Amino acid sequence: MTAKIEISGLTKQYGTNVVVDELDLEIESGEFLVLLGPSGCGKTTTLRCLAGLETPEKGSITFNGESMFDAGGRVNVPPNKRSIGMVFQSYALWPNMTVRKNIAYPLKARKMKEALAGGRVEEAAAMVDCGHLLDRFPAQLSGGQQQRIAVARGMAARPDLMLFDEPLSNLDALLRDQVRTEIHRLHAELGFGAVFVTHDHSEAFALGDRLAIMKSGKIEQLATPQDVFDQPVSEYVADFIGMSNRLELHRSGLEWITAAGTELPLKFDTKGADAVAARLWPDDITLHSRSADVSDREVVLNATLESAEFGGRHYDVQVAAGPETYRLRASSAVHGEWLRTATVGEPVAISFRSESLTIYPLDKALVAA
Ligand SMILES: Nc1ncnc2c1ncn2[C@@H]1O[C@H](COP(=O)(O)OP(=O)(O)O)[C@@H](O)[C@H]1O
Ligand SMILES: [Mg+2]
Repeated sequence: MTAKIEISGLTKQYGTNVVVDELDLEIESGEFLVLLGPSGCGKTTTLRCLAGLETPEKGSITFNGESMFDAGGRVNVPPNKRSIGMVFQSYALWPNMTVRKNIAYPLKARKMKEALAGGRVEEAAAMVDCGHLLDRFPAQLSGGQQQRIAVARGMAARPDLMLFDEPLSNLDALLRDQVRTEIHRLHAELGFGAVFVTHDHSEAFALGDRLAIMKSGKIEQLATPQDVFDQPVSEYVADFIGMSNRLELHRSGLEWITAAGTELPLKFDTKGADAVAARLWPDDITLHSRSADVSDREVVLNATLESAEFGGRHYDVQVAAGPETYRLRASSAVHGEWLRTATVGEPVAISFRSESLTIYPLDKALVAA
């Protein structure tokens, strides 16, 4: 139930709109690969090309070395002959079929009579803890149950590759976490290969063996979640995964000044660049109710409070330091008492370590960390 997938030079366009652009990607056997990117960057189209639901203009796709699509060699294996299971955002169960018939459908379509007779449907339902729902109709199920059944249906035929297109987006927060954990557990148990599409970076971090971050039909970064987190290759990636603080810095003698004219005692190697963009995680900024008692290993800025939103154990805080805005997370245990009644404009201080900054040249690619 797994295969190595190779995608090479894949191009799909609608009219003159190039949606997938010379995409190269190898998915290892049993790997859980997440395609992450904003709406419209070509994730669904890439998935549909893998499934055989779209005909690309250029490129090739192989499963375990066997050609599924080859624009040059005119190979195009139809969807029902590719060993694939799909789960969509809208659960897409057949409303007039019972759960049993829904799960059996891919087995019937592939004429897998032995699997049907051998209890495969029941086994697939049990896998997602829905063995007791086999005789119900989709309308009699909750959203979470429907999506679990859709997962069982996708896996019933034990396909080489599972394709998930934002399967958690329609679920409310609690169910989203439950079904996400379930998919994670199933992958750990069964070891199927998967391409999972999402625009949610926390979902991507939680599930992916590797992440492929897409931008305009191309892959901007392909790496493990840890590597993407530690070293986003570009500001596009940094921004997308929530490294939301951005400072434009210009060299001024030995110091750096922000676009707003604040001097910062920062030390980093920019290989000669005189203007850079620096990115900083909200978690790497510390809030102080006043500028006192801050370690001198940190950069300290005086600021004013713009907003503080309660998040349970933390507050999401926004402050202004001159014309620059910083977002940070403050512990409720440390700051809750005064933040609860703090007013907009209240003087505060923030601090961060110079080493926490990730530096990008103003024209994209990473220079130094
Ligand atoms: N059938 C279609 N006809 C024309 N344009 C399409 C079609 N499907 C998708 N597109 C366009 O292709 C781009 C990528 O779409 P899609 O792959 O659905 O992105 P994503 O899943 O990343 O949001 C979008 O600009 C979309 O409008
Ligand atoms: Mg999509």
